[in-house]
Amino acid sequence: MKVLVTGTAGMLGQEIESVFKKKNEVIGIDLALKGRNSVDITKPKQVINFIKQEMPDLVIHCIGLRDVDECENNRNKALLVNTIGTKNVALATKMIDCPMVHISSDSVFAGDESKAPYTEFDCPNPVNFYGYTKWKAEEIVSSLVNNTTFPSTK
Ligand SMILES: NC(=O)c1ccc[n+]([C@@H]2O[C@H](COP(=O)([O-])OP(=O)(O)OC[C@H]3O[C@@H](n4cnc5c(N)ncnc54)[C@H](OP(=O)(O)O)[C@@H]3O)[C@@H](O)[C@H]2O)c1
Repeated sequence: MKVLVTGTAGMLGQEIESVFKKKNEVIGIDLALKGRNSVDITKPKQVINFIKQEMPDLVIHCIGLRDVDECENNRNKALLVNTIGTKNVALATKMIDCPMVHISSDSVFAGDESKAPYTEFDCPNPVNFYGYTKWKAEEIVSSLVNNTTFPSTK
């Protein structure tokens, strides 16, 4: 299976890449990489062109701006990377009918102990602006990507 992992220069993306590399072909994209794999997810054409060229069987989206203070102080950037950037990845995967895994955050919930443990069916109530951008990204991904069929292992 060909797996495209976004954020392979970051903490989570590197781990996901190392696990999936054992049994799959893995392609990584990240702003911090060099050459053609340096894709900026806030630029829709860059993302769409790359994904259409590579035609992965699965996209695992690990790019995100996760510095809570930076998201609070630079809300436009947080929305651009976490929400619009994720929308661009979701649109590109939809165009090639590919399943997508999106990494969200526990910050989509306010941490009300009476509700613990939360499940994916609980209504989000973001604890901060970072959580808000991740929640909006969740909504976009679930409205765009058809994840009902999963590719078989090749
Ligand atoms: N780490 C956690 O504890 C945690 C917990 C819950 C959820 N998450 C989520 O998991 C995901 C990965 O987190 P992480 O800890 O691995 O973050 P990370 O180490 O900061 O990695 C994120 C990567 O994304 C890249 N990036 C940022 N903006 C980009 C853009 N516009 N286009 C392309 N690449 C871009 C960064 O490159 P630069 O460094 O060059 O900007 C960085 O290499 C995020 O979505 C985060 O919200 C993380």
